[in-house]
Amino acid sequence: MDKILILDFGGQSTQLIGRRIRQLGVYSEIVPGDVRLDALPLEGARGIILSGSGYSVYEPGAPSVDRAIYELGVPILGICYGFQRIAADQGGKVEPLGRKEFGRARVTLTERTALFARIPEMSFLSWMSHGDSVTKFPNGFSAIGRSDNNLPAAFVNEEKRTWGVQFHPEASHCQYGMEVLEAFAIDICGARREWNMRSFISAKREKLRERVGARKVVLLISGGVDSCVVAALLLTSLPGDQVHLMYIDTGLMREGESEEVRESLAGLGARHVHVVDASERFYAGLAGVEDPEQKRRIIGDLFMNVQEQEIARLGIENSFLAQGTLYTDLIESGRGVGNKANVIKTHHNVRSPLVEAARRRGLIIEPLASLYKDEVRVLGLELGLPQRIVSRHPFPGPGLAVRILGEVTREKCELLRRADLLFLAELRSRALYDRIWQAFCVLLPVRSVGVSGDTRRYGHVLALRAVASLDAITADVYPIGMTDLLEISSLITNRIPEIGRVVYDVSSKPPATIEWE
Ligand code: XMP
Repeated sequence: MDKILILDFGGQSTQLIGRRIRQLGVYSEIVPGDVRLDALPLEGARGIILSGSGYSVYEPGAPSVDRAIYELGVPILGICYGFQRIAADQGGKVEPLGRKEFGRARVTLTERTALFARIPEMSFLSWMSHGDSVTKFPNGFSAIGRSDNNLPAAFVNEEKRTWGVQFHPEASHCQYGMEVLEAFAIDICGARREWNMRSFISAKREKLRERVGARKVVLLISGGVDSCVVAALLLTSLPGDQVHLMYIDTGLMREGESEEVRESLAGLGARHVHVVDASERFYAGLAGVEDPEQKRRIIGDLFMNVQEQEIARLGIENSFLAQGTLYTDLIESGRGVGNKANVIKTHHNVRSPLVEAARRRGLIIEPLASLYKDEVRVLGLELGLPQRIVSRHPFPGPGLAVRILGEVTREKCELLRRADLLFLAELRSRALYDRIWQAFCVLLPVRSVGVSGDTRRYGHVLALRAVASLDAITADVYPIGMTDLLEISSLITNRIPEIGRVVYDVSSKPPATIEWE
């Protein structure tokens, strides 16, 4: 298959570049940026993209590239750091700006080269995120675009078929970003559009069969979309006897979750589904604990203990461990392809000791690690999962525990489950659910005064949260209409008398996070 090779320097949007290339129907492969030429998977490579990075090219430890790639004769496009890398490597100069160009920035094209042939205007709003600038071009390179701050926004060396852009064409906010990538991949590189979800599935299946051989695979089902999609992929790729699905009921799940998961797995023809009711252990472990990080640790450890014990009980210790890790989980945990990314937050499913031990032994399978959530949903449908499962909102590993501020108890979980069920059912019936990335209720650790009939009461305070997002890395508040909010609020306080007050969270991410803990 034709492909575009992406050299990753640890930029947060490297996978987004890959994803955009896939959107064009072209296969792409991401490799660490510093791989030596002889180790690069060059077969079928029609072009090379150099990614962004959190580093400056002049910084010690900045990721470098095997300069022999510049002599391959394959078209090259450098993006942000990649643009600066090309400049620095070929005799140009990169210097700190003293301030950042960040966010929307107008770019004016000074020359219409092949890279910009699909842009219908000579000026457009790009997306920038850089604190360095190319201050001297290498020989043979000429400017083809400038930003409003009169900084170089793009260059080309036609003879070497090398382009560089300071802006991020992969960012969704970049006007004509897709046109730039399409011009590069299709017009300049001549890559054929051979990639689609079906070809992804057949390649994954082949790889899975080859890797797994006759061993067993254990998959922990969380109830979320990702693990269900991995289950569907495993069950349709391997003999049913090899696939063990384990579902740990922590008591921290949403209403009806366990039943729904059980039904959908049965529908996929799963033979070994192990459901472990560990809710008592989780409630006991969380008793008296208020600190959010401690809660996460306790839940993560318990998850692992229960999983280990169950695996030992079933005698399937030497199995592969499959996970529904997505690319966004990896970048937040600092496991970007090139290992140059920064850690934002450690998701327990990415770095638990059990997973790390399996990783050291080469027994981890993460078939979704290059995909974004919406691609996973398309994959799930393609694999035959019901729409209802596929379109479910993401749910955090620690479950309702991070949505109950303060101590977690069975009673609070039950209260929150009832409220959450009402909220989500209302969003569905008002045709809002599918427009929202994630919606849920949060039980606050305060009581407030209310009246009920003639009596004063101290009721619980419930926060409603609904956000729009593409990948959970950033999120906007979803603007639920005021009438809808008022009706949902009265419904909740009427049906659940323990809740005396409902508030709506109007914070975006950043500075807030999607969850409250
Ligand atoms: P935050 O709250 O960091 O969440 O904005 C981003 C996305 O990640 C989910 N989330 C988690 N998922 N384990 C998970 O598997 C976790 O510990 C965890 N914490 C947050 C959250 O629901 C949102 O979709």
